[in-house]
Amino acid sequence: MEWSKAQRYLPYDQWSAAELLKLQAQATNSPYQLQYHIRPQSGLLNDPNGFCYFNGKYHVFYQSFPFGAVHGLKSWMHEASSDLVHWENLGLAILPDGKYDSHGAYSGSAIAIDDKLFLMYTGNHRDQNWQRTAYQLGAWMDKQNQITKVDQPLFKNDQAVTEHFRDPQILHQNGRYYAIIGAQDAQTKAGEILVYESLDLSSWQKVGRLNLDPLGYMIECPNLVYVDGRPVLFFCPQGLDKKQVHYDNIYPNMYLVLDEIDLATATVKVSQPLRQLDFGFDVYASQAFNQGTDCYLISWAGLPDITYPTDSENWANCLSQVKELHLKDNQLIQKPAKAMKSLRQNGEVFKDQTSLFKQTDNQYELSLTIDKNQLASLELAKDSTSSLKVKFDTINGKLTLTRDQGAFAQKYGLNRAVNLEANSDIKVDIFVDHSLIEIFVNGGQAVLTSRFFNLGTGIEFLAPCKYQATYWPIVK
Ligand code: FRU
Repeated sequence: MEWSKAQRYLPYDQWSAAELLKLQAQATNSPYQLQYHIRPQSGLLNDPNGFCYFNGKYHVFYQSFPFGAVHGLKSWMHEASSDLVHWENLGLAILPDGKYDSHGAYSGSAIAIDDKLFLMYTGNHRDQNWQRTAYQLGAWMDKQNQITKVDQPLFKNDQAVTEHFRDPQILHQNGRYYAIIGAQDAQTKAGEILVYESLDLSSWQKVGRLNLDPLGYMIECPNLVYVDGRPVLFFCPQGLDKKQVHYDNIYPNMYLVLDEIDLATATVKVSQPLRQLDFGFDVYASQAFNQGTDCYLISWAGLPDITYPTDSENWANCLSQVKELHLKDNQLIQKPAKAMKSLRQNGEVFKDQTSLFKQTDNQYELSLTIDKNQLASLELAKDSTSSLKVKFDTINGKLTLTRDQGAFAQKYGLNRAVNLEANSDIKVDIFVDHSLIEIFVNGGQAVLTSRFFNLGTGIEFLAPCKYQATYWPIVK
């Protein structure tokens, strides 16, 4: 169905409860539905927001349009967890029902202050002529998870930026609050990250623009964390020149390991290259946060401007599993959150046999070591029109994921690859959850996150090879 503007922006209270129940049932009953990842209760999910630890629990919110698989009027949906793996859905948290977020409660972040959680997000407002104003807004959540919006905007876009000014991350450093915000420069139309500061959360001043090299035409979802003590900046530079760094997806999610950052002067020192956060087909708008010195990351397993096969079932997308971050040789190491192991059922060990399973329930973890000096090709899903394969080239040091799925996202290629050390074993930890695959390579040195839509569930090598594997069914 084609969605008109009026349908996309219909206030939530004008949708019937019966319609919502129907959509929820449709999502729940989908054969592609995720069983151990955060997935939309109904409709469309996109960016993770407000990922944090507060009041004895982890919290993450996500961008939600509950009424269909389109980017309509966005709200924040709330999930909470004690272990970063078992999540409980707590329902809608920020509704787009105010003057300043009338056309969407867009992405943002959270910070615990005393016994409350402060949420900072972008209010998307459009006037009768569809002219957009981007307001940066605040809200407080108490220990009962009740949210009260701050009634006036914290600030809005000034003349120096276009209407593209969103996704604040709030930080507290040296007695001041800072917000870093993705923006587009009004004159040059280049993507940039702006820094604002405040002493009291109500009066905000612009500090300036981070001194980064040109980064496409718009930066979405900037996110600063400290990984093993080092500042790391995540962001999504739309329109990034592929000469700067190679990527295949429509928009990339990148990171920079910084030497230094000083928010008080909006300056960074950078000696490391820009790098891709994930080598798979579907990662965007990732958000990380620090709990003390620990650092956790979660991503939208999806991309803007791509239609997904479940759109016809009126739901779309999911979040990745949570990863713990570390640094090694100035590069990110991503590991599954510790409690992921608690989902493993009885393990089964395999060695060198070509076919592991003719059929699985598509909900498993497979840990695999491919011995060096060989090429191996593992097929994880196959039906008459599509397949999902992982190729291991231990000689040249390369892992390739091939998703051949008819017309779906074909324009952006069927392969995603990552280069590894030559002449070495390749070790992977593969998580499959019905329509999501997450491959952790060599202890998290690289990750490939991808959606796939295929109900064939066998696991087999296409030719004999030398390997060791353990397979665990996963039950949540
Ligand atoms: C990124 C994004 C953000 C925006 C949100 C709206 O996917 O476009 O920039 O705040 O999604 O849902």
